[in-house]
Amino acid sequence: MSNLENKRIVLIVSGGIAAYKALELVRRLRDGGASVRVVMTEAAQRFVGQLSFQALSGEPVHTDLLDPAAEAAMGHIEIARWADGVVVAPATADFLARLRAGAANDLASTICLATSAPILLAPAMNQQMWQNMATKDNVATLIKRGLRSVGPDSGAQACGEFGPGRMAEPVAIAAALADLFVPQTLSGIRVLVTAGPTHEAIDPVRYLTNRSTGKMGFALAQAALEAGAEVILIHGPVSLSAPSGAAAIAVVSADEMFHAVMENIKNIDIFISCAAVADYRIESPATQKRKKNDTSLSLTLTPTRDILKSVTAQSMPPFAVGFAAETENLLEHARSKLERKSLDMIAANQVGVKGLGFESSDNELHVLWKGGQQHLAKAPKEVIARQLVGLIARVHGQKES
Ligand code: C5P
Repeated sequence: MSNLENKRIVLIVSGGIAAYKALELVRRLRDGGASVRVVMTEAAQRFVGQLSFQALSGEPVHTDLLDPAAEAAMGHIEIARWADGVVVAPATADFLARLRAGAANDLASTICLATSAPILLAPAMNQQMWQNMATKDNVATLIKRGLRSVGPDSGAQACGEFGPGRMAEPVAIAAALADLFVPQTLSGIRVLVTAGPTHEAIDPVRYLTNRSTGKMGFALAQAALEAGAEVILIHGPVSLSAPSGAAAIAVVSADEMFHAVMENIKNIDIFISCAAVADYRIESPATQKRKKNDTSLSLTLTPTRDILKSVTAQSMPPFAVGFAAETENLLEHARSKLERKSLDMIAANQVGVKGLGFESSDNELHVLWKGGQQHLAKAPKEVIARQLVGLIARVHGQKES
């Protein structure tokens, strides 16, 4: 069943040439089982007629904040309350600026201000306008406030220019909207995710690390939040911003990550150990920068503590999910790690393959647990993360019941 089934969607159409593509969006949303009410700005009506939206949505189109008939029943508040989700497609530069400012000078902006439903933006504009600092800043602020955004795509533009600013395709907008209604399979569940690499100091300026970017773990934290979980994200040095809503704790070394996990593991229901924790650290890091000379240099490495194993060794361990990044014999190594570390589930991925795993936006996983296994085919890490979180919720639920 589509996540859009029986959802009440307000589609706000602001004034850009991409408004004609919003007609197709209405069809996609209705095909997914949603009811759609369309709100148009004054400028939008110059591009596409109200009648087209009315015919496709099967509902009257709303345009006027001060329509005496509708406002007798507090029309703008009623529409804002009716919505399970709001999508602005296209969202013009002007509309984004007004949203950021909290303007309420027409029906469309007022509904955005008055609704408690999630809002998805599908920006569309000239590429230079999209790349202008003012627009970038507006979008970044709106996302920080919790609004979602899809697109824009890059390509030939109606204005004759080429670049980013084409509205995302209706099918992609409908999919992003469906993501707002992820089933709350982890509602009331506390999840701790570790992510990213660790840095093991050689001296004050040098360290040992690995190729992990943290993308997979951050995507898992985001997916768990979307599924209704309370999330703690403990991460090594990465250049990503933590999903809003997660309690993020930044650490540097494996030892720091060990302590951060142990301090926070109490009351955790599900532990997802996605971090590429260093297996070894330098036994005695130099306190001053090592000087170069012509002789070879040996560093003594000592094993770090296995965080995941320490968690599962507790008397009341949480549901524990490990990762196995392997360059060979993937399933065999994963299965033995599942046993050796007393895990409930393990997600194995092949590393050393171009386009997958470390430093890549895509991943492919073989997930094993005691009662089964599932292959998650190559897809963007965000998609894989949602699938894995769905699987974790299911197997965790079975274990609890
Ligand atoms: O044995 P291996 O290091 O490949 O196991 C990987 C799994 O163990 C991952 O889930 C990783 O997060 C976890 N791990 C850990 N502490 C370590 C090393 C690995 O929690 N010191």
